[in-house]
Amino acid sequence: MCECQKNESELSLATIAAQAGNHEDERGAVSLPIYLSSNYRHPTLKEAINFDATKNYTYSRLSTPNRRAVEKTLASLEGGTTGFALSSGMAAVQLALSILKTGDRLISLDDLYGGDFRYFDYLKKHAGIEFDQWNGQKISELVAKLTSDTKIVWLETPSNPTMKEIDIHAVATAVHEYDPQIKVIVDNTFYTPIYQRPLLEGADVVIHSATKYLSGHNDLLGGVVVVKDEKLVDEYYDYYITTGDTLDSFDSWLLLRSLKTLKVRMAQHTKNAQAIVEYLKQAPEVEKVLYPGKGGMVSFYLKEESQVERLLNNVKVITFAESLGGIESLITIPYYQTHADVPVKQRQRLGITTKLLRLSVGLEDADDLIKDIKQALAYR
Ligand SMILES: Cc1ncc(COP(=O)(O)O)c(C=O)c1O
Repeated sequence: MCECQKNESELSLATIAAQAGNHEDERGAVSLPIYLSSNYRHPTLKEAINFDATKNYTYSRLSTPNRRAVEKTLASLEGGTTGFALSSGMAAVQLALSILKTGDRLISLDDLYGGDFRYFDYLKKHAGIEFDQWNGQKISELVAKLTSDTKIVWLETPSNPTMKEIDIHAVATAVHEYDPQIKVIVDNTFYTPIYQRPLLEGADVVIHSATKYLSGHNDLLGGVVVVKDEKLVDEYYDYYITTGDTLDSFDSWLLLRSLKTLKVRMAQHTKNAQAIVEYLKQAPEVEKVLYPGKGGMVSFYLKEESQVERLLNNVKVITFAESLGGIESLITIPYYQTHADVPVKQRQRLGITTKLLRLSVGLEDADDLIKDIKQALAYR
């Protein structure tokens, strides 16, 4: 792993997050007020003609004060130059892939959020984008897949749902040695910049489903793209303001408010997850636990399918629901839910079986969560 340090003048992540939106309001409001206007007055014709979209406002598809504050905060947290806030994680995936043209090749890790595969498939069918996968093991095997048509290498780490960590620095170095023009794009939804800053490891673009840890309260859908290269920023900006999958002011306000507590939330998610992993490792019903050591996401195999049904039907504190990263603990069965669109053979190869469960450990008391799993497994 790269020991990529932040530069000395940079504020620490906790400070950047806590200060999100403060000092932004012209009237001095500490919590940036919500701007619900869809459009903004031009003071003069001259200013309308010389409109600067990075400073001023004209129409909310282009920008709003709330969205801009979110984008600025996320660009700082991820160590990039520019952020884009979108209406969902999938809108962020779409923006990140918008640089592809017919005949280009995309290579992705084989263990990703299932919706990504659905979209890669769509691009293959409708836009003639070639698509190949890498199993995350030998980097030499990834390099062997690169061709002159390869435009993007797509990673999600830890992988989803089998929690394998990929060395971003090693991948980015090998890919850029092959061709510096290939963009390495990392979905950082699970770790967030608190545990991993892909751009400092050599990646070109970071994306998030902000629906998860960044917003953290199971109350909004959002997506984020952060970029460091200005040329790429221009390409993305045109697509972004044209297609209009932008995050509205209200959700931007909620997201900004949530970012302020990101560091403490992530620390507590990890603490709770570690306690649950200790319990699961010795629970007689559990075959195997997959946990990378930090973060709030834990996958585990139960020994019997009947135990799966019992657990999912009888949890009382933990909610049987899709999604992750919020205060409330959620449990899902990726085989039937988040990864239902991954071909059966691929699910089998990856170990996404009907006995694999994925737990998003929330911020409840860890003992209560453990008691809940115990009582659900013992339910008769
Ligand atoms: C890792 C990851 N990336 C992207 C997405 C897509 O995000 P959204 O549901 O906000 O569109 C998800 C959704 O679950 C996800 O888990």
